[in-house]
Amino acid sequence: MRQRGRAVGFAAIAACALAGMAMAQQATPAGDAAHGKELSYTCLGCHGIDGYKNAYPEYSVPKLKGQHAEYLVAALHGYRDGDRAHLTMHSEASTLSDQDITDIAAYFAGPPLQSSGKPPGNVPQAASLCTACHGADGVSVSPMYPSLAGQHEDYLRRALGEYARGGRKNPIMKGFASSLKEADIEAIVRYYSALKPGLQVEPRPATRLSR
Ligand code: HEC
Ligand code: HEC
Repeated sequence: MRQRGRAVGFAAIAACALAGMAMAQQATPAGDAAHGKELSYTCLGCHGIDGYKNAYPEYSVPKLKGQHAEYLVAALHGYRDGDRAHLTMHSEASTLSDQDITDIAAYFAGPPLQSSGKPPGNVPQAASLCTACHGADGVSVSPMYPSLAGQHEDYLRRALGEYARGGRKNPIMKGFASSLKEADIEAIVRYYSALKPGLQVEPRPATRLSR
């Protein structure tokens, strides 16, 4: 009985997510990547340096290149408006208008990863519920869902922990993350972080600081 209740819950959550997605897609205007680049110089101090770590707790700064612009917009709104708890990202995002966020997301995303359409091997059992949205090859099926392929392993672990603890207030991911056991999390983050082609650290372009 419990198993069945859980499966129904997931289906309902997925249906809501799809409805929300359709609305968000209509509402998202195209960003001006050139203006986004102008705004990006402070960001690159962390996101443009390979191996850069968040301190206390220590985990890698997420890779943004190849991520969907629509998802980056949602993430930045989350930090700005308090749905995601992270002090530095909150103050970074607080100075950005809605249009700035759309523009900067367009700049950072670049061309999104393209799905190969097939799993690159055996998907671990623990990740079997995740592939419906994040793709078996880690390239998400909708621009509102983040791609996970090639993302830093320690960052993925951190993000899952934040959904489960409530530091990130996303109702879809809270449900999934809370149901994972420690061993599931390890299998999942190892699998997704190793997939190629994957997300990349921003190549550091000429910025206002270096001009
Ligand atoms: C001091 C380092 C630092 C700076 C500067 C910084 N970030 Fe971040 N950024 C982080 C860290 C650390 C995280 C992960 C936070 C968390 O755990 O949720 C993050 C997360 C993000 C995410 C979410 C990615 C995902 O996969 O969900 C986006 C988008 C982002 N940053 C964009 C920006 C932009 C745009 C700027 C500049 C306006 C910026 N960041 C400046 C460190 C930084
Ligand atoms: C119904 C679709 C859906 C399913 C199924 C799903 N997710 Fe997600 N996932 C999302 C959405 C939407 C977000 C973005 C939430 C937000 O705005 O923070 C997300 C975010 C994430 C992130 C954060 C990525 C980043 O860059 O910060 C991770 C990690 C993640 N999911 C892992 C998983 C795992 C592991 C599973 C399976 C146990 C799973 N997801 C199942 C929709 C889904």
